Amino acid sequence: MKQFAVIGNPIAHSKSPLIHQTFAKQLNIELSYVLLESEPDQFKQTVDKFFASGGTGLNVTTPFKNDAYLYASQVSSHSQIAEAANTLYKEDNIFKADTTDGIGLVTDLKFHNIDLKGKRILVLGAGGAAKGAILALVDQSPKHIVIANRTKQKAEQIVTAINSNNLSASSLDKIEGEFDVVINSTSCSITDDVPEMDTACFNNISVSYDMSYKPYQTSFNKFVLENSNPDVKAIDGLGMLVEQAAESFLIWHGVRPDTSQIRNLLRKAN
Ligand code: ATR
Repeated sequence: MKQFAVIGNPIAHSKSPLIHQTFAKQLNIELSYVLLESEPDQFKQTVDKFFASGGTGLNVTTPFKNDAYLYASQVSSHSQIAEAANTLYKEDNIFKADTTDGIGLVTDLKFHNIDLKGKRILVLGAGGAAKGAILALVDQSPKHIVIANRTKQKAEQIVTAINSNNLSASSLDKIEGEFDVVINSTSCSITDDVPEMDTACFNNISVSYDMSYKPYQTSFNKFVLENSNPDVKAIDGLGMLVEQAAESFLIWHGVRPDTSQIRNLLRKAN
C-alpha cells in the first residue's frame, strides 16, 4: 500500500488525512495517509526517514513549506516563485516539489463560477500565502493585479520576481484604482482581525475571497461587505483547501477526484 503523510508542526488539526482518504475511497485506491509531526530543526531527517521507509508523497504545511522547496532537486515554476512547496514526492529517483495552493484557489473560484479573465484583482498581503498563489492568478489573464501589503517592499519583491506588465505593488493606506475581485491572503482573519487600510478600493468589488476559513463569516469578508454593498459574493478558503489537496492527489495518482462530497462533509463539520 502506498504511504502518504502531511508534515508540519503543529499538525494535529490538519484535515488533509480525511480529505485524501475520502478521495481514495471514492476512486477505490488503497493508501495510507497519516499525520507526521517534525521538530522544527528536524525536517530533513524526518523526511529522509519517511522516504527511506517506503513513503511515496508528502504534503507540507507550516512551518516547513520553504524547507520542502529547498529539499527537492526539481521544483515547479509555481514553487520557484513561492520559494515554497506543499507537495513533495519521489519520481524517477528524483525528489520533486510543487505548490498547489494557487491552482487550488483558482479552481475554487471556478467552482463558484468566477472567471478571472479580464478582471481587476486586488490581492491583500504579500507573505507565503500570496507568493504561493500569485502565478496561478497571473495565468488566468486578468486585466491587472495589484498586490497591496502593510510592508510595501514585500509586495514589490513579488512583482519583481514575476515580471509581468499587468502586476503592480501598493501599500495598504493608499490603493489606487477600481477592482472586481479582492483576495485576502493576510493572516488577519485567523485572529478575527482586519487590515488597517483604505476601503475606497472596495466600492466596485463583486467578489471577496478570503484564503482563511472559519465556521462563521470571516472577519475580512464581513469587513468587505460592510464597506461595499450587500451583493458582494463572499467566499472563504475551505474550498481552496479541498482543491489544493485534489491537485496534490492528481500529481500522485494521475487522477483528479471529485471534490463535492468532501466539500459538503467539511462544511457541515466546520
Ligand atoms: P502566510 O504564510 O499565511 O502568508 P506570512 O508569510 O507571515 O503568513 O504573511 C502574513 C501576511 O499577512 C503578510 O503580508 C503580513 O503583512 P506584513 O508583510 O506587513 O507583515 C500580513 N498581515 C498580518 N497581520 C496583518 C495586519 N494586522 N494588518 C495587515 N496585514 C497583516
